[in-house]
Amino acid sequence: MLYFYAYTSELVDPQADAAAILRSIRRVAKVRNAELGITGVLFFDSGRFLQVLEGEQDKLDELMAAISRDPRHRNITYLFQEPITRRSFSEWNMDTLDLSGEDELSEAALLKVRDAYAGTFKANAGAFITIAKSLLSDPRFARLIDR
Ligand SMILES: Cc1cc2nc3c(=O)[nH]c(=O)nc-3n(C[C@H](O)[C@H](O)[C@H](O)COP(=O)(O)O)c2cc1C
Repeated sequence: MLYFYAYTSELVDPQADAAAILRSIRRVAKVRNAELGITGVLFFDSGRFLQVLEGEQDKLDELMAAISRDPRHRNITYLFQEPITRRSFSEWNMDTLDLSGEDELSEAALLKVRDAYAGTFKANAGAFITIAKSLLSDPRFARLIDR
């Protein structure tokens, strides 16, 4: 059965080169997730990850077992583990969106995410998906996406 997972976690080492970590995750994930039939995106901002994953539940659990063992992050907190009828991120093969930085673009992104959290973010997967997709399609963020 098709499921939608979303979780947040935090980077263990605040001094780590986050861009390099995102690159290395992306390199592995693009191959493995495609093999597992898993689509999704990985957001990063201010030392925190937010990952969206969709695919067959057994494949998601297999992948999450590996991700949970990864020493580069900790405090994995699920926002959603819900059955879905169709994919919302079918064209996304674990691309990453790095919202870090100290420019105003990043601040706008942060505020958007904060407002999203404050609202229906946690309560409703549908609303969450809409917000995540609006971040991905917003032209201001488009240049921050590494495919
Ligand atoms: C926040 C975060 C997200 C990750 N997402 C994925 C992913 O979607 N797919 C993937 O194959 N690896 C992902 N990884 C890397 C895995 O944790 C792991 O290093 C990699 O899959 C190799 O697994 P192995 O230790 O079983 O060989 C992620 C790591 C982190 C820290």
